[in-house]
Formats: sequence, structure tokens, C-alpha cells
Amino acid sequence: METTSCSYSVILLAAGKGERLGAVHNKVLLPLADERPLFDYALRVFLKDQRCGQIVLVIRQTDKKVVEQALKQLYGKVPEKIVCVQGGEERQESVSNGLDTLSEQSEYVMVHDAARPFITQELVDRLFSKVLTTEAAIAAIPAQDTIKYIREEKVIKTLYRPEIWQVQTPQAFKITLLKRAYKHAAAEGYLGNEEGELVERLKEPVAIVKGDPLNFKITTSEDLLLAKGLFLVRNQEKA
Ligand code: CTP
Ligand code: MG
Repeated sequence: METTSCSYSVILLAAGKGERLGAVHNKVLLPLADERPLFDYALRVFLKDQRCGQIVLVIRQTDKKVVEQALKQLYGKVPEKIVCVQGGEERQESVSNGLDTLSEQSEYVMVHDAARPFITQELVDRLFSKVLTTEAAIAAIPAQDTIKYIREEKVIKTLYRPEIWQVQTPQAFKITLLKRAYKHAAAEGYLGNEEGELVERLKEPVAIVKGDPLNFKITTSEDLLLAKGLFLVRNQEKA
């Protein structure tokens, strides 16, 4: 494979359990539309993007066979730029395993939740342009609802909405910076929710780019219903 022109690698996270959705299998394996598994929607965006040279698909050991079988069915064989890697108990561990597998050819990495099927090429483009000048860039959207800080069912305080943003993936980083952030978190024994937070803890700046309200994460059965409805409407519009 031609690697010198590759601009970034992606760590595509699919190694969760999907407990909040409560399906028998990991949610990323569930069919969404056209009988394609959920993980294949984001995967396809990165497969098509010429600047993406390597896709590190992080999966659970117990899902390995099913995922590889699905890839063979969808693409005839496991596409060349995909490397499957075993995830960890926590998301942070899954990203860390992905980081250990990154190609030496890439200078930048994106991290994306396979549970966000509505990622677009436009969003990837915005993020990639930004990371080239900032070294850390994350997708975010302004909060629509007021967010309150609550403890034991009592309101402690109300956060100032114009300054509250909801963070999404993909997130993009210079690989050396993200590796440094992971090393720092490991040394501190800190477990975060997403990558941006670990870079913040280094006191390094993290830039935002406009995310997409439709780039929501499928977390619960309601989200799955919404996603299926959205695909249905889009397919009808295309017909
Ligand atoms: N993920 C992962 N490794 C983990 C945990 C999560 O790769 N140890 C991935 C999930 O597969 C998902 C993404 O990270 O694509 C976002 O996580 P989340 O929505 O929390 O998914 P799950 O952990 O699977 O769901 P739940 O928390 O409800 O069990
Ligand atoms: Mg989870």
C-alpha cells in the first residue's frame, strides 16, 4: 500500500458492551439499515477518505469472529487498511491499545466512536484542517438545553448555557501529543471520558470545530429508534 501520501490514521472504537442499550449483542453489531452493522457506517467514511491511511478497529475478543465475518461479507475480504485490535475494559484502555498499533507513517490520529454512524466527510474535513494548525481539535455543538449540576436529587447550581458545549467524536490529534497525554494520565492513574480531556490535563490547548447535531451517539434503545427513523427518511428522500 502507498503510505507516504497518507495523512492520518483513525482509531475506530467498537469494543464496548452496549450495556445501556441492553441488546443481546454489542450494539455496534446491530443492523441499522440495509442489514449493515452499525459499526460499518463510520467505517465506510474512513475507508473512502484517501487521506486516511490506516484504520485501527478496536473490538472485543468475543466479537472478533463476527466482525471479521461481517467485513468479509461487506468487502469480500478484510480491507487492507484495517487492523483489528483488542479493546480493554474501559474506553481509555481501548484507545491506548489502538495508539500502540498506529502506523509510523501517520503524523495525526482521529479517534471516533463506532456508535456514531452519522459522521460525515465534511466533519472529518473540518477537523483535519483544524488539527494541522492546532495539534488537538474536537467536534462539539452548543448545548440546547440548560444543564444543571445536581446532587442527591437537589440542584446545586445552574451552568451558564452559552458557555456549555456537548462534545462528540471524531477528535483529532498530533500522535505525539495524544501519546504524551495518555502516558501522563496513566502515571496519574486518571481515567477520563474522552481524549480531549487527557490533553487538557497536560495544560495544552484543545480547539473545537463545529460538530453536527445529527452526529449523535447511539447509547440507548431510543437512540437506535431515532437512527433507524433517520435512515428511513433519508432513503425515502433518495428514492
Ligand atoms: N468502547 C470501546 N471500549 C470500551 C468501551 C467503549 O471501544 N471499553 C467504544 C464503544 O464500542 C462505543 C464508544 O466507545 O463505540 C462509545 O462508548 P459507549 O457509547 O459508552 O459504548 P458502550 O461502552 O458499548 O456502551 P455502555 O456504556 O452502555 O455499555
Ligand atoms: Mg460505555
